[in-house]
Amino acid sequence: MAQSQIKLYYKNVTADCLGDEHGITPAQLKNLAEKTSPLIARLNKERKAGKTPYRNLPFKTEIAQQVKKLVAEVKDNCENLVVLGIGGSALGNVALQTALNPYMHNLDDTQRPGPRLFVFDNIDPVQLSSFFDWVGDRLDKTVFNVISKSGQTAETASQFMIIRKLLLDKLGPAGLQKHIVATTDPKQGVLRKIAADASLPCLEIPPGVGGRFSVLSTVGLFSAAMCGIDIDSLLKGARDMDARVSCEDFFKNPAAINAAINYYFYNHGKKISVMFPYSYHLKDLADWYRQLWAESLGKAEDLTGNEVHIGPTPIKALGATDQHSQVQLYREGPNDKLFTFLQVDNFDKDLKIGPAPECAAELEYLANKDLSVLFNSEKRATEYALLQSKRPCLTVVFPEVNAYTVGQFIYLYEVTTSFAGALFGINPYDQPAVELGKQATFALMGKTGEEYKELAQQIRPLTEVDGDFLV
Ligand code: PA5
Repeated sequence: MAQSQIKLYYKNVTADCLGDEHGITPAQLKNLAEKTSPLIARLNKERKAGKTPYRNLPFKTEIAQQVKKLVAEVKDNCENLVVLGIGGSALGNVALQTALNPYMHNLDDTQRPGPRLFVFDNIDPVQLSSFFDWVGDRLDKTVFNVISKSGQTAETASQFMIIRKLLLDKLGPAGLQKHIVATTDPKQGVLRKIAADASLPCLEIPPGVGGRFSVLSTVGLFSAAMCGIDIDSLLKGARDMDARVSCEDFFKNPAAINAAINYYFYNHGKKISVMFPYSYHLKDLADWYRQLWAESLGKAEDLTGNEVHIGPTPIKALGATDQHSQVQLYREGPNDKLFTFLQVDNFDKDLKIGPAPECAAELEYLANKDLSVLFNSEKRATEYALLQSKRPCLTVVFPEVNAYTVGQFIYLYEVTTSFAGALFGINPYDQPAVELGKQATFALMGKTGEEYKELAQQIRPLTEVDGDFLV
């Protein structure tokens, strides 16, 4: 599969293309290599010592086997698969589905290799009601995959409690076992307890794997396999990328170079990182990346406890759509962004543009051309325009979009995040700032405990509306 390797192209961040003020000079690149090279060895060592369990996921054949076994058990009776989860327990599922199944998957039986897929990563009652109105008589052919590592996330727990009641009311206790798959921690947490109590089919999230690094575990693999995605190729892609991102030669290691370039620009006034796929299929990978980058790298303290308030801001854009929405700002607004395009060399399908109407000679330049040629020309045109404005541009080149290349991309960005964490000197695997909002929700919803009572009192004056300021 040598021809199917994704590649990182970084010439358009260099001083050759952008000048010394905005680009990386050869001397600066050499410095970056010297700074990052020891980190490659360090990360490899940490990985061997079991400190980054997400790195082992692509090699754990038993996970894929466990997933396939359960898929074989439930698939025949499943026309609709509903994932209930949030953050790292949902974004990877959405990204895989968008990347690897047809756009019309949910609507067209002939394009669908598995059940329809719905991923609810929110608790908007209007959105969910619309789904429940639709699912009505289809409940008997619907499976709910509840994913929560902690088991106590309020959004997922409340969704679960709604569907539990629905299933009990309509199908009785047996309905729970037939229609719910729980994905959670192997030992602890409320969901584990509930699953044991109700004898629900269960998948385990391997210990030490955080939500945003979990897409290649049971978290992402179950919905993918149910919906016909080739999870073996996905994992093979990740394994093959593992060899490349473990390479101790900086200039051959795409994750080390990617992280070093991002780190450089963060420290040179470009604190915003825009991921810009020119492929509808890759658009939700940009959303997945947004969480990975933001939660992993946005930290108040470094590893020695100094206050640093560090972290690049990840943004997603979609080519060509956002050329007509964001590019004005990207070219003429502040020069504070690094762009990462995702480019596809060979699209799965193509369309010929029709002939120009006789009265419209102005459109002749488009006539009878392949739509993919226009799409990729627009990527090159946007990149050129950004370079003219001295904006640095990386490109991740996909020879094609398939499970093998998507597996590579996921793993490349996970390990890039580890390198970026090491360069910034922070812990990329925790998310302490997310905790306070969770605790505050518990307090506002009346969870028992003195600490929640006190918290609710602290919250009230800050969140109650002061009419003097309401216009
Ligand atoms: O990346 C993370 O750790 C978070 O985004 C979690 O995935 C998210 O908060 C959901 O947590 P849980 O799976 O425990 O319900």
